[in-house]
Amino acid sequence: MDAMFQLRDGELHVEDVALSAVAQRFGTPTFVYSRAALTTAWRAFESAFAAAAGGQRPAPLFCYAVKANPNLAILSLFARLGSGFDIVSGGELARVIAAGGDPARVVFSGAGKSAEELATALRAGILCFNVESIPELHRLERVAADCARVAPVSIRVNPDVNPKTHPYITTGLNENKFGVAHHDALALYRTARTCRHLRITGIDCHIGSQITEVSPYTDALRRVLDLVDELAAEGIELEHIDLGGGLGIRYRDEDPPSMSEYAQALLAVYGDRPQRLMFEPGRALVGNAGVLLTRVEYLKPGPVKNFAIVDAAMNDLMRPALYEAFHEVLPVLPREGERVVYDVVGPVCESGDWLARARALALAEGDLLAIASAGAYGMSMSSNYNTRPRAAEVMIDGALMHEVRARESVEQLFAGESLLPP
Ligand code: LLP
Repeated sequence: MDAMFQLRDGELHVEDVALSAVAQRFGTPTFVYSRAALTTAWRAFESAFAAAAGGQRPAPLFCYAVKANPNLAILSLFARLGSGFDIVSGGELARVIAAGGDPARVVFSGAGKSAEELATALRAGILCFNVESIPELHRLERVAADCARVAPVSIRVNPDVNPKTHPYITTGLNENKFGVAHHDALALYRTARTCRHLRITGIDCHIGSQITEVSPYTDALRRVLDLVDELAAEGIELEHIDLGGGLGIRYRDEDPPSMSEYAQALLAVYGDRPQRLMFEPGRALVGNAGVLLTRVEYLKPGPVKNFAIVDAAMNDLMRPALYEAFHEVLPVLPREGERVVYDVVGPVCESGDWLARARALALAEGDLLAIASAGAYGMSMSSNYNTRPRAAEVMIDGALMHEVRARESVEQLFAGESLLPP
């Protein structure tokens, strides 16, 4: 976790606020974020690249991947820090605009953009469409013609490098649905060049997520630069090179490269090319800036396992169920006494509903736990399964608590439904 999450006087705090105070005021389960941790992570990216470049080149543009955590408070914080945004839907664009983000710093990724989404983004004046297929290129040309506009285009290429991460979050291999194969990219650019309503501005790739080594990035960059050179030889000059997101964080004992190692390694390969570098970081900015605060409902001893049944569940944080992901479990008020090995599980009616397995903890009913590293892909992947209202979200800022999303009510959950006529 970020240094803003610390034990103080025997109790886990976020900045200057005790987590028990958050639970008392807002209940549980609640996602709790640290404004200082978010700010530090964003600045670390910016300064790592500035330092590695020695101020010699155009500053890179960081486009926060909204999908990691789309809360408006987080988007507005990053917007104020100068961030751009990587979106994958019309909904995410609406959030960026509502949060005061600048559409001129938005890139639009995703393999299935609808015509309506393309038109809305075009009218909003986004920076670039990251196009992932020939049919999408043709659709964008038609939409741009209908809107009497010219769409800025980058082709997402698949560098076919193995990022050595979980297969569900690998995206840059030829077998994935994303991007276009390296050897097809040239043809797409040639087609794009003939389209009157498209303007080629860049190239992009995204090879996967939770990457903990630098070499997949440098390999991908070399592959992309080969293409940039081939394009230049045909007279197609690019303005930017977007290397996507994917930088990993520490959940347990991973040792991801620091921002400065990442920046130095990439800039060493990049050399002094004129294009602006762009990145789409998600997890690395928000993952360790948030916890999921939950309360122990029951301790249930069993013949084979002991269960700590808590009030958060797979619908709140689905990463363990989906990827067998590890999240640290931190007692908010650690107690003395014998530790027992528990599976920490939720109330949802699925055996896959677990948050942590085989953790030695000293617990009593009613205790508060913080599920660590829950700032990325926690709330954004949550659901209402079992008609469970989604958690509240609270942003800590020094000694202040801001409720940045109220807990859902049950009535809200079925407000759009109706009974059949008699
Ligand atoms: N750019 C593109 C085109 C992406 O598809 C993604 C993530 C990102 C940027 C941001 O990647 P990041 O820096 O956050 O790794 N739900 C999974 C992660 C899925 C990532 C999908 N794409 C998880 O909880 O681990």
